[in-house]
Amino acid sequence: MIVSILCLLATQAVAADYRPVFHFVPDQNWMNEPNGLIKIGSTWHLFYQHNPTANVWGNLNWGHATSSDLVQWTHQPLAITSENGVEAFTGTSYYDIDNTSGLGTSQNPPYLAWYTGYFPSNGTQDQRLAFSIDDGVTWTKFAGNPIISAAQEAPHDETGGLETRDPKVFYHDATGKWIMLLAHGGQNKLSFWTSTDAKHWAWASDLTMAQVPGLPSTAEAWEVPDMFELPIEGTDETTWVVIVTPAQGSPAGGNGVFALTGSFDGTSFQPDPVDVSTLWLDYGRDFDGAMSWENVPAVDGRRILAAISNSYGANPPTNTWKGMLSFPRTLALQQTGSARRFLQLPVAELDNVSSSLTAIQNQTISPGQNLLSSIHGTSLDIQVVFTINTDAVLSLAVRKAGSQQTVIRYNRSNGTLSVDRTASGNISYDSAAGGVHSAPLVPDSSGVVRIRVLVDTCSVEVFGGEGEVVISDLIFPDETADELSLQVTGGTAILQTVDVREIALN
Ligand code: FRU
Repeated sequence: MIVSILCLLATQAVAADYRPVFHFVPDQNWMNEPNGLIKIGSTWHLFYQHNPTANVWGNLNWGHATSSDLVQWTHQPLAITSENGVEAFTGTSYYDIDNTSGLGTSQNPPYLAWYTGYFPSNGTQDQRLAFSIDDGVTWTKFAGNPIISAAQEAPHDETGGLETRDPKVFYHDATGKWIMLLAHGGQNKLSFWTSTDAKHWAWASDLTMAQVPGLPSTAEAWEVPDMFELPIEGTDETTWVVIVTPAQGSPAGGNGVFALTGSFDGTSFQPDPVDVSTLWLDYGRDFDGAMSWENVPAVDGRRILAAISNSYGANPPTNTWKGMLSFPRTLALQQTGSARRFLQLPVAELDNVSSSLTAIQNQTISPGQNLLSSIHGTSLDIQVVFTINTDAVLSLAVRKAGSQQTVIRYNRSNGTLSVDRTASGNISYDSAAGGVHSAPLVPDSSGVVRIRVLVDTCSVEVFGGEGEVVISDLIFPDETADELSLQVTGGTAILQTVDVREIALN
């Protein structure tokens, strides 16, 4: 009897294990960043760095999951496996609509995936190709791999090809060529390569830190590039965007994601001067290895990003899984005068799976009042729209019980949005797990501040304004910490709207 009760309790603990409700995590074991994101027909494909046999980094394969709405994911068999002493590191995929590779037919063009082959025996990295002729369900490794050998990489890499990886590949209509960006791990540069058949590649140019005017020299050790053309909102123009995950130097410390704009002629990328206030796509600790979905139909037109939310390796206190995908977010570029800023927001599909817990309108909140104290929930979408006195601070606490809470604050006097994890629950699992992360946020031209917070079991993703700043952080509170509070200090705030929605999947 006692044994069976203990077994039941153990099973329940394992079953919960901080598994989020509307974020993707592996069924079992380890994941790091997303790979090969692509939409095929009505199916969103997610591939990801996955160790299927252990809860730590290593033995890397492309895991695979599919979704019809970017919210609910179905686990699929491994797509590209670690085999014959060659692991499958990060890469990307693209539709070879003209069958330039000859790996499909003109009636049934192939989907291609480029990935880095990693040899754990000697650390060598080369570039490889896989293809799918069944709409992304199964993937076959190209018989002529590697398509770029370590020897071919060597003249363009400080380590002689040991650290050349993470191919981002797309077809460049203007020059009729395939373009590949490679990262050079530990180095502050990308290299650009071109091809006409997606199989034979020639080096074209390097993009180094020295070529990016105004980039902080602390944003070091570039990995996981992405590149695409993005419309400039309100104009008929587009600009090229290059996204990089440096291993160091992000606003919250350690790895993070920065985005450059610039022009591209098919050979080299000419970056615009960097405005540091719009450089970083996230101010939290848990957003890196960002990548965007390709092949999204023009009628949809969104550029949608996802990244890995976990900057602590195997340290988070989960037992059956490690590593969570950030909630997919749209990326847009807004221009006002000569100033440009990126705007990011959760994909709208989330609205289809949420229901209202409370909706407040036009209410003044004063010091000593505590709104939302009767609301409970651990997977929530909270939107607060308000004006606030110049010396006041608005504080929204989530995952709260007793002394535990994660606090999202807007401080009007210094114009900062912050996430405070000092009392978030378990913060001892990693030295970078506690603390406060802040981002600059000014009210809009009418004095209105907008904050949107996605809470999901073990994470908060906080979007400020129209999405001009985001703070993403993991949290590990007690399972029972499900209270909320909304308070103000130092003055009053007028809450135009407060919407708290619960997210529940079938
Ligand atoms: C980034 C990274 C990539 C590499 C992958 C291996 O986190 O180091 O550069 O391809 O992880 O899992």
